[in-house]
Amino acid sequence: MTGSPEIRVLFDEEAIANRVKAIAEAISQDKPHNLLLVAVLKGSFIFAADLARALHRAGSVPEMEFLHLSSYGSGTVSSGEVKVLRDIESDVTGRDVILIDDILESGRTLKFARDMIAKRGAKSVRIAAFLDKPGHRKADIQSDYTGFDCPDKFVVGYGMDMGHAWRQLPFIGYVPQEGDE
Ligand code: IMP
Ligand code: MG
Repeated sequence: MTGSPEIRVLFDEEAIANRVKAIAEAISQDKPHNLLLVAVLKGSFIFAADLARALHRAGSVPEMEFLHLSSYGSGTVSSGEVKVLRDIESDVTGRDVILIDDILESGRTLKFARDMIAKRGAKSVRIAAFLDKPGHRKADIQSDYTGFDCPDKFVVGYGMDMGHAWRQLPFIGYVPQEGDE
């Protein structure tokens, strides 16, 4: 039962939880130094919360920060321009930083964030993007820790929105368009 009949499930809660656990274990095996997780808001908030707890279970001791960037406005097409709406407060000098985002599409948002944190003297800046849509990349950037490759659809749920709606869905889905089976 989705509770939202017009939305088709792409990745269900169990599949999501399995991937979050695997990502947390992969990060922990890399033995990060003074790990700082930076959740790129808003879309990453649910993935970030799940990942922080999965990292605890996997034996890591991350700190959390929040970076609010905007590039989409309220539509579904990127404007290409990235703005800092709220910056992080912690010093990143000498730390292993992981930027957490919901989905890596053009890559402009995460490239902007990675360059900004790297310039401040982080030891490393890695990317954990829950979904990867590699066909749409405009910037030279890859995800180091990925949940799933995402089909070429506009997806919602698990933090991701369409015009501010559907972030609360516990699964990831899409609104079927004409031609979808
Ligand atoms: P980009 O990689 O700079 O193009 O931007 C990625 C950001 O755009 C993500 O963090 C999401 O907030 C948003 N985004 C991209 N594709 C989708 C989608 O299919 N559904 C919901 N949000 C999306
Ligand atoms: Mg986002």
